[in-house]
Amino acid sequence: MPESKDRYLPCLSSRMDGFEAPATIAMAMKARALKAEGKPVISLALGQPDFPTPKVAIDAAYQSALDGNTKYPPIDGMLTLKQAVKKKFAQENHLDYSLDEIVIANGAKQILFNALMATLNKDDEVIIPVPYWTSYPIMVQFLGGIPRFVVCPEEKGFRLNASDVQKAITSRTKWIILNSPSNPTGVVWPKEDLLALAEILRAHPHIWIFSDEIYEHLIFDGAQHYSLAALAPDLKDRILTANGASKTYAMPGWRVGYAGGPKRLMNAMLKIQSNSTSGVCSISQTAAVAALEHASSEVASMKTAYDRRRITMVKMLSTLKGISCNVPQGAFYVYPGIQACIGKITAGGRRIESDYDFSEGLLEEQYVAVVPGSAFGLSPYLRISYAADDAVLDEACHRIAKFVDHLHD
Ligand SMILES: Cc1ncc(COP(=O)(O)O)c(C=O)c1O
Repeated sequence: MPESKDRYLPCLSSRMDGFEAPATIAMAMKARALKAEGKPVISLALGQPDFPTPKVAIDAAYQSALDGNTKYPPIDGMLTLKQAVKKKFAQENHLDYSLDEIVIANGAKQILFNALMATLNKDDEVIIPVPYWTSYPIMVQFLGGIPRFVVCPEEKGFRLNASDVQKAITSRTKWIILNSPSNPTGVVWPKEDLLALAEILRAHPHIWIFSDEIYEHLIFDGAQHYSLAALAPDLKDRILTANGASKTYAMPGWRVGYAGGPKRLMNAMLKIQSNSTSGVCSISQTAAVAALEHASSEVASMKTAYDRRRITMVKMLSTLKGISCNVPQGAFYVYPGIQACIGKITAGGRRIESDYDFSEGLLEEQYVAVVPGSAFGLSPYLRISYAADDAVLDEACHRIAKFVDHLHD
């Protein structure tokens, strides 16, 4: 006789062992539950613009649906969008990709997933700078690879040191994943760092390079974004330059990502896309064309607002005892260190042993959701998104300050 009925349930694959939802999602779910209880929760945990999608994109989508653009779209993307992406790469990134070197996918996330799936064999290694966007190591592990972490410490401005990368390279290294401007630190890697990195990678032709440039338009203080493939054209045939509409055009729900890269890799990625999701929603693609071609003034005004909020947030954090705050030059996050808060007791009587405890305390006592640095591989830090309305952000700053001011021994 079976001990319990559960013993006969069909099982999950071993791929799912140890697979957890990213902490960014976990914190957002906790915040949602408190909100449902009627608590005045402010969430600065999610990485998405608070602005509406530019009207020009919505109008184009509506018209596209009325015009009957509702059939299965081409797997690699609609010609009009590929042409708009080709033009964007040429004008903004000094990159000349032919149309068959460009693919459209369901977000930059799917670009990375398809690329890893098309290339990783079991136990292949992927170099990931730390702190990292949460999905990078999860995807690598999910597909049988091994993440090799290279720490970019705060003392070095969270910049990637090329000689640290050199030390992490082995004969099994298949990819290095680069992300500038960075989620979560907001750091924009300067040209000299990218050139030094290119010099190292030049000597290791077995390594693919993923350049995640999704925050390229959100840069401040005169910082400049460089595409590695333009800085090191001799490496272009192994660089995948990824981008998308989610952040720049406030279109995360439309699910449009795109990439330029070598034809051999793109063809392999398309085989995966063709047998999983198929092409991206045709209506979203039309909206993305309109955004790429006609939304530059909306992008400029969103950028002005992000810059103002960035200054508000950094100013507040730098007045707080126990918090160290690097000034980010890109994206819409700050990544303050909370080392001096470890061991303190909150007003609610909670002992802070980690950045997770800090985030949980801040959420439960002041109803502000942020994400602990542990989710991004570097503790003790917090990732705070300032993609929120100015008044909401002011209130959040007030509550964060109150929480920190009340910490005691
Ligand atoms: C660094 C980075 N890359 C990629 C993505 C995914 O973007 P998409 O919405 O295009 O899938 C995100 C989203 O948070 C991100 O932060």
